Amino acid sequence: MAKDKVHIFDTTLRDGEQVPGCKLNTSQKLHIASRLDELGVDVIEAGFPISSPGDFHSVEEISKLVSNASVCGLTRAVQKDIDVAAQALKHAKRPRIHTGIGTSDSHIKHKFNSSREQIIERAVGAVKHAKQYVEDIEFYAEDAGRTDNDFLAKVCEEVIKAGATVLNIPDTTGYCLPEDYGAKIKYLVENVKGIEKAIISCHCHNDLGLATANSIAGAVNGARQIECTINGIGERAGNTSLEEVVMIIRQHPHLQLDTNINTKLLYDTSQMVSEAMGMSVQANKAIVGANAFAHSSGIHQDGVIKNRETYEIIDPHDVGVKTSAIVLTARSGRAALAYRAKNIGIELTKLQLDKVYEQFLKFADTHKEINDDDIPGIVDLADLNA
Ligand code: KIV
Ligand code: ZN
Repeated sequence: MAKDKVHIFDTTLRDGEQVPGCKLNTSQKLHIASRLDELGVDVIEAGFPISSPGDFHSVEEISKLVSNASVCGLTRAVQKDIDVAAQALKHAKRPRIHTGIGTSDSHIKHKFNSSREQIIERAVGAVKHAKQYVEDIEFYAEDAGRTDNDFLAKVCEEVIKAGATVLNIPDTTGYCLPEDYGAKIKYLVENVKGIEKAIISCHCHNDLGLATANSIAGAVNGARQIECTINGIGERAGNTSLEEVVMIIRQHPHLQLDTNINTKLLYDTSQMVSEAMGMSVQANKAIVGANAFAHSSGIHQDGVIKNRETYEIIDPHDVGVKTSAIVLTARSGRAALAYRAKNIGIELTKLQLDKVYEQFLKFADTHKEINDDDIPGIVDLADLNA
């Protein structure tokens, strides 16, 4: 059975760049956009053109540069925003306007002091206005995670009639549980008239650490686009991490889903974004963290040396990491020490290993990590000729 394609919508340059202190200049954005295109993302959200002249310029330049992915610009449901976004996207091969408005009762009351009827009117008006400029219109129902499902379905129905091609269902506040977010997507699939004319998109924030789980729950229930960022960067606790959703889909073939991503570029892309933004990747970050393929406890090291698959569900080469690491610490066992010593040309018999291991433990208790350079000195201390 052919797998269903999940479109990857990368918003590193828009939602990701909203991280305080991580502003990128146009040349850095172009560099990242070109890598995202090579990585195989389907859509690059290049910015929010009306927000500043710099953002407008970046969206315009990215539109000229990108050859494969659609290039998308964000707007509010405001005509001027849409006019400016259309202008910035003028040179894009595949332009997309991303417009929308808050749909939860909280947003309707506190942000807009409005009514459900007026929100639908503004949503439809924005989509129709955008449709004059481009064919591909994505509509976001901001705070959809906390929006009543009946009303959300009504909004979706009306914007599809107005010409929306993609329906973005953001869990803007990162509030939803995977079960509830998945059920919301299923509800829309089953209850929105005309839903076959549009793709449902997941856009999840990570306030409770559930962005990836929610996005996968959405895809399992019928969404066919996931919005994400490299390293999961973004507002507050961040967005869904691109590398995580892509690898979950790849490592679980029974989901019958697939993406276009060249996973071998994931690690390098993660490093590139981290450097450009001056934002380090946490060491225990799934897929791309420094420790994602590092083994330090004796039991795990022994297993991995015998067969990598005992403690690794992903081949590091598949995500562009050169090799798994056997890290030497006071928790390491003889197998790890023998392995690392052999790697630098020191072969030890069982008896010799016992002696060296004794010295190794003394050294390790006073050092956080033991490097290859330390090993010959430890071997000398063991005095193998005595
Ligand atoms: O989180 C959100 O709701 C958004 C929208 C503007 C798409 O980023
Ligand atoms: Zn967002």
